Amino acid sequence: MLPSADQNEILRRRTFAIISHPDAGKTTLTEKLLLYGGAIHVAGAVKSNKIRKTATSDWMEIEKQRGISVATSVMGFDYDGYHINILDTPGHQDFAEDTFRTLTAVDSAIVVIDSAKGVETQTRRLMEVCRMRKTPVMVFMNKMDREGKDPFDLIDEAERELHIHCTPVTWANGQGLKFESVFALDNRPTELSDKLQADLELIDGVYPTFDREAYLRGELAPVFFGSAYKTIGVQELLNFFVANAPSPRPVTAEERQVEPMEDKFTAFCFKIHANMDPNHRSCIAFFKICSGKFLRNTYYYHVRKEQQMRFAAPTCFMAQKKETVDEAFAGDIVGLPDTGNFKIGDTLTAGEKLHFKGLPSFSPEMFKYIDNADPMKQKQLEKGVNQLMDEGVAQLFVSQLNGRKIIGTVGQLQFEVIEYRLEHEYQAKCKWQPLQMYKACWIESDDDAELDTFKKRKAQYMAYDKEGRDVFMADSAYVLSMAQQDYKHIKFHFTSEF
Ligand code: G4P
Repeated sequence: MLPSADQNEILRRRTFAIISHPDAGKTTLTEKLLLYGGAIHVAGAVKSNKIRKTATSDWMEIEKQRGISVATSVMGFDYDGYHINILDTPGHQDFAEDTFRTLTAVDSAIVVIDSAKGVETQTRRLMEVCRMRKTPVMVFMNKMDREGKDPFDLIDEAERELHIHCTPVTWANGQGLKFESVFALDNRPTELSDKLQADLELIDGVYPTFDREAYLRGELAPVFFGSAYKTIGVQELLNFFVANAPSPRPVTAEERQVEPMEDKFTAFCFKIHANMDPNHRSCIAFFKICSGKFLRNTYYYHVRKEQQMRFAAPTCFMAQKKETVDEAFAGDIVGLPDTGNFKIGDTLTAGEKLHFKGLPSFSPEMFKYIDNADPMKQKQLEKGVNQLMDEGVAQLFVSQLNGRKIIGTVGQLQFEVIEYRLEHEYQAKCKWQPLQMYKACWIESDDDAELDTFKKRKAQYMAYDKEGRDVFMADSAYVLSMAQQDYKHIKFHFTSEF
């Protein structure tokens, strides 16, 4: 076990992400939290973080902004004796896979909902990932200063759409133009309007009191109301958050469960951020520390490469600055400068052969064959494609029928990023051929004979993922549902870990 001073460092850490549909107010809320932490001094400072709406089709512009946002990938600051790490998640849906992976590195999440719009698509999808991982979540109903949906309807909608029990912790005094303040339900004002009186009676009759254990199990979400823009209800959220959100949680490796307080250092890589400048090909590999303490210039074991490595310039992220650090603790994120040594999912330890689980690939939504367009540059193309996939830019599948390579992404922009980077960083040229595909499904079955028959029958739709696992490429929802009906013992999964 670690010495108690180090244990205290870990206990005071709160590492989380704010998730929402674009425009619900994630950036505004982040900024207000940073203001409370004294990490920034003026509103508007985090704006560079955001991929602007006007730039949605111009990916170079987006990459430039993503470059700026390396500094805001993790925002660390102290508040009331706690050390908070906010992990930023890209707002643009073409980079949704990045966001999914970032959620594997957080210990909890805050879901921001626009009270006029209710639960929107992106929020629903991100919440699925939280549910899968049993991540504790709190809900912030934002923009209460606008005319929006009735608060009770909003809670109902959150319960229904996010599949989680909810209970309000604060309540809004008015809504729209009349919205002035919020109050904690366990500290109610004495003077109440008739409307508020009626609201409170209903709340007491319908919602359970907050049960922290149920929250920590990911079964109950406390709900807050407010306006990030007007800074109302934010401090109530923050105070409740630091007091109740979990400190770093145990992480499951294939070999065993790893406890944050163990004295030996362990960490996994959940994100690689490449510098788009071809003259300075360098990356930052982001590691989440799962246990113990990380020290600069100390040798650690790179499990996949079976190699000792040490890092002279590791960075931590304080407020919006990247700073070289000498030490970091379980719960923290360290950025390690990288020149191609790391892949997403890699593990660093103090010598133990550990492999962390739970960095699933999600089924892409768009698929294209990738072919070589320059016969002289076959090797470069292969190297480029492999490295870009290791970085997690997209997913590679290989057809079992003809050996052709298929790239799967969640958005068109990623194909453009790949083509550009192949050309500029690897001097390789590629051609795309669109493929009408619905989903890639990872398959498993207890019935080997049935699985065999299925693979033979569907040979032209079978592919391998980059780990060599069998994947069924369903070309329509109908084909998939027919396959599910015909092959009762086969399970079709939309993520690579089940
Ligand atoms: P995002 O990161 O989730 O995409 O959302 P962001 O915070 O950028 O907020 C989106 C828009 O909603 C912004 O307006 C922001 O000012 C506004 N907003 C955020 N919180 C509230 C709130 O509590 N009440 C109201 N009324 N508006 C809110 P914008 O016009 O797009 O940008 P800006 O010109 O204000 O910067």
